[in-house]
Amino acid sequence: MLLSKWTEINVNLTSITRTHQSRTYCLQAAASSPTYTPRRAMLYVPGNDERKLKKITTLQADCACMDCEDGVALNRKEEARHTILKMLDDLELPHLDRAVRINSVDNPTLAEEDLKVIMQAKKLPATLMVPKVNEAEQLTWVSEKLREALSGRDVAEQMKLVIFIESAIALLSLREILARGVQLSRDSPFVLDGVVFGSDDFCADIGATRTADASELLYARQKVVTTAKAFQLQAIDLVHIDFKDSEGLRKQSLEGARMGFTGKQVIHPNQVAIVQECFSPSPEKIDWATELVKAFEAHQESGKGAFTFRGSMIDMPLLLQAKNVLKLSQTVSRHSAPS
Ligand code: COA
Ligand code: MG
Repeated sequence: MLLSKWTEINVNLTSITRTHQSRTYCLQAAASSPTYTPRRAMLYVPGNDERKLKKITTLQADCACMDCEDGVALNRKEEARHTILKMLDDLELPHLDRAVRINSVDNPTLAEEDLKVIMQAKKLPATLMVPKVNEAEQLTWVSEKLREALSGRDVAEQMKLVIFIESAIALLSLREILARGVQLSRDSPFVLDGVVFGSDDFCADIGATRTADASELLYARQKVVTTAKAFQLQAIDLVHIDFKDSEGLRKQSLEGARMGFTGKQVIHPNQVAIVQECFSPSPEKIDWATELVKAFEAHQESGKGAFTFRGSMIDMPLLLQAKNVLKLSQTVSRHSAPS
């Protein structure tokens, strides 16, 4: 039954047309950067828990979010940032996005101290995650503090920045926040790469009650994904808190993928494989793309422009979609390879 649902959704994706724009943009955003970082599953790991941090090396998650923020008690913050610092340097994590979530800018003392300590790592994190961004000015603050924390260091590449939208005001200001992030990315130690929807803080902020089908979050999720895609950024969907409910997780993951999200937050290792499967191009989709590209090349050689493939007229946008699917599938399979 699960398999048939999965197949049905992917068959729908196989017959992708211009009416399936959100999926298309997802793949375009995915493939537009030469250094695309897949974050199909973004696994939270409490920064003060050395056992769980070490466990990351055995997991196949695309992204480990080593957490200084809400996964860590107030009296463990100092321990968390120093444990993460040690793990960044000690752990071999070649196939994974090494991300660190600092405390929110609302709490500048904690956030600044996180940056000061974490940016001492010999092997810097690839991604900086900043929670509870409510206004554009906060990104300017992060840019300045990150620059200070990295001063005197020879940093070869900009760090990727992923921000969290977790309140009503953040949702309303999202366009300005992302515009500022993109503008800062031109001359800053970070380059804005994605947006996470922080659903539980968002519910608390607007006074919503969580339900099993998350219908109370539909507007916010659609706004996050649409705005992120307008800026060609990744969009990372809500957490499925009940980590023992794999059927519910699969359903919600497929729903998020259909909406255009590129990945999902996870809290437990058991959630990783399901989520990554749901956010990967399906075998049917990869086959469609492979055959389409071959057919296009054959028609080009014989001097024909537009042609019919599996009952549909093929033109340039569909060819680009097919190429994007192939690029994305190659990237995620490289990242999924065991180390
Ligand atoms: N990252 C890495 N490893 C994890 C993990 C995580 N997020 N969650 C569990 N594990 C490990 C456990 O250490 C355990 O390994 P072990 O058998 O070698 O000790 C194994 O996976 C099985 O874990 P389990 O016993 O089922 O769960 P738990 O009781 O240890 O932990 C949670 C349950 C929910 C506390 C834990 O999954 C967790 O801390 N998740 C992250 C929560 C978080 O950060 N929330 C804030 C953002 S929403
Ligand atoms: Mg939060």
